[in-house]
Amino acid sequence: MITEENGVFHIQAERYSYLFKIDAYGLPEHVHFGAPVKTGDVAALSCRPGLGWGSNIVLKDGDPASCPDTLALEWSGSGRGDYRESPLELAGQSTDFRYSGYRIHEGSIPMVCGLPQAHGPSQTLELTLTQPGAELTLFYAAFPTAVVRRTVLKNTGSAPIRLNKLMSMSIDMPGSYRMVSFNGGWIAEMRRCDTPVGSAKVVNESLTGSSSNRHNPGFLLYEPGATEDAGRVYGFNLIYSGNHYAAAQQSLQNLTRVMQGINGSNFSRELQPGEAYETPEAVLCHSDAGFGGLSANMHAFVMDHVIPVYWRNRPRPVLYNSWEGCVFDFNQHRLLDLANRAKALGCELFVLDDGWFGQRNSDRAGLGDYTVNRKKLPEGLEGLSRRIREKGLEFGLWFEPESVNPDSDLYRAHPDWALTDDFPPVMGRNQLLLDLTKPEVRDYIVENVSRILDSAKISYVKWDMNRHSVALGVKAHDFILGLYDVLRRIFEPRPGILLESCSSGGNRFDLGMLCFSPQIWASDDTDPVERLTIQNGLSYLYPQSTVGAHVSAAPHGQTLRSTPLTTRGNVAYFGCLGYELDLKRLLPVEVKEIQEQIAFYKQYREVFQFGAFRRTELGWQVSDGTVTLAGVFHRLVHAAPGYERLRVKGLNPQADYRVTSLTQAIRVGQFGSLLKPVDPVNVKPNRTLLRIADRHVTSRSQTMTVSGAALCSGILLNPLFRGTGYDPNQPAKGDFSSDVYLIEELPAE
Ligand code: DGJ
Repeated sequence: MITEENGVFHIQAERYSYLFKIDAYGLPEHVHFGAPVKTGDVAALSCRPGLGWGSNIVLKDGDPASCPDTLALEWSGSGRGDYRESPLELAGQSTDFRYSGYRIHEGSIPMVCGLPQAHGPSQTLELTLTQPGAELTLFYAAFPTAVVRRTVLKNTGSAPIRLNKLMSMSIDMPGSYRMVSFNGGWIAEMRRCDTPVGSAKVVNESLTGSSSNRHNPGFLLYEPGATEDAGRVYGFNLIYSGNHYAAAQQSLQNLTRVMQGINGSNFSRELQPGEAYETPEAVLCHSDAGFGGLSANMHAFVMDHVIPVYWRNRPRPVLYNSWEGCVFDFNQHRLLDLANRAKALGCELFVLDDGWFGQRNSDRAGLGDYTVNRKKLPEGLEGLSRRIREKGLEFGLWFEPESVNPDSDLYRAHPDWALTDDFPPVMGRNQLLLDLTKPEVRDYIVENVSRILDSAKISYVKWDMNRHSVALGVKAHDFILGLYDVLRRIFEPRPGILLESCSSGGNRFDLGMLCFSPQIWASDDTDPVERLTIQNGLSYLYPQSTVGAHVSAAPHGQTLRSTPLTTRGNVAYFGCLGYELDLKRLLPVEVKEIQEQIAFYKQYREVFQFGAFRRTELGWQVSDGTVTLAGVFHRLVHAAPGYERLRVKGLNPQADYRVTSLTQAIRVGQFGSLLKPVDPVNVKPNRTLLRIADRHVTSRSQTMTVSGAALCSGILLNPLFRGTGYDPNQPAKGDFSSDVYLIEELPAE
């Protein structure tokens, strides 16, 4: 609900209040964003500058309360006494916007510029501020767990205005904070980094042309002392896939100014008289229940208001993807063999990745072309898709429509369609970007992708993008608008196609892409130990149903690390499960284990994909209120490990629960020369018999009944291996081992 009373605006939902007021000078003063409060609390929550701070500019002589530099503001100008960073820059001009009116709308106000938008707010506040020759509108959309802001600047004068920067939101929050940003690079996405926000500005930005794996646009601010389960945490994110910018800086007055929007670097727009410019939407979330509470609010917002409505709570299929198993080396015969094997494992969707078109036998050629390679696929995509569907699998296909290889028919026909600048082209993965600002380029992509989707009954698309954008210059934003136009035209008429976007893994994991693609390929790094970091980082901002997570081969291609198949499965369960390895090379024991993994995942798929997610001391848990699945993950184990305690969150202390540890499959072969003491099989290490005996020893699953109170307090787990002997009833777990515990509420007696 949004109300206005004597210039006090109150956006309220069950979990938060967002309060601001228009002051005597027409400046919108921020008052409170946090736990629900009363409108009448406004005076107590407002800044009181008293006699001011000295050496300041005041809007009215003698009134320290008119010093913009010392106020908590919802928006601030420049060149008029607020020396902090301004969310707006007009070339060669000061800005000083003052309140002129408001309207409260039911539902949302559609955006006009082609950017994606969160859907389903209860109400939207439109607050208008003006200065001579320009009008600034601040929109506030009220969602159950988030406030979503955007800004529109309109030229109401008679001369052009040059706009160099316009943030989606700016807010001054009292207090001291630390910023959590999520940084990295290829195969190393979403590494959490904590930085204190003091008087030196902390910036989180991308300049690569996309939201980037270097700095995800989502970030958090927390009060020192906040923990996973308690304390004040704010979350911010941008519904945008291009260059982004966010800054946080604390003033002498203890106000922390936070702003977020499109990066102003290389951004410039001339607004003709009457013309307006609209920013992407910025998401603001709050929790007093720590990082876990903040993530729950963000997850609810993304699931209910960002991803396409069709896919809301719609189970995602278990898929097989051809990439890591085949790379470019496949033909129809091999794919159908893989499909048979994938079906036998329990997969539901077969995805043909890169390499099916043009001369695409390596990453040097073919991008931009859409003719099927008949040498590899003699019956075309239609024939392949039909045969795969006859096996009872859905068929999915990989595309990389935004790029072109110079060695392609498209480039030979239309070299001018590639995005270049005045310098010789510089390559990334042997490819250039197509100029999506050109309507004919967008039409080419829409026509070709749509034709193929309809001709081959494709139910899933992996939309890849594998180069950092260069040569974009001031076109960066228009490129992203072009991308959204293409996605909208292809996928809005085909809502049932599951779109998984990808950019060399997680190089474009953002809310803009999630408006079209309900899931995103999180990383080309499928090593489960690395995934613990990557998926954990994502979990702060994005629900697990948005995270593509696959089991791949060991040793792993990116890290050379060998990990148990059990752990590869246990980690991938906490996302949208898939398999991506050469199935022909699986041992029978591995086939059996994967069959069990997929059957188990399917049984609890809704809980894994849509259940309430929590980070715990030992890993992660998901819960639907009745069933909880708790993952316990080990990285490097130490000698003589102590007792391990599993603390489960959110259970009913009065209820009883059945706790079942899942069966573990342990390969005998891994014990090498230790085999004799740990296993009754009498074989010599490194001999044929060992290879034959390299079967799985399946440890028994164990079940106990425990009260919710005990589980919340923390139960002690089975002993880990301590070098003091082998107990066949307990798995001898070493490095990178893991468990998933099934915790089911028992009916009250
Ligand atoms: C990069 C992606 O992240 C991979 O999963 C795969 O699709 C390759 N591109 C194909 O070229």
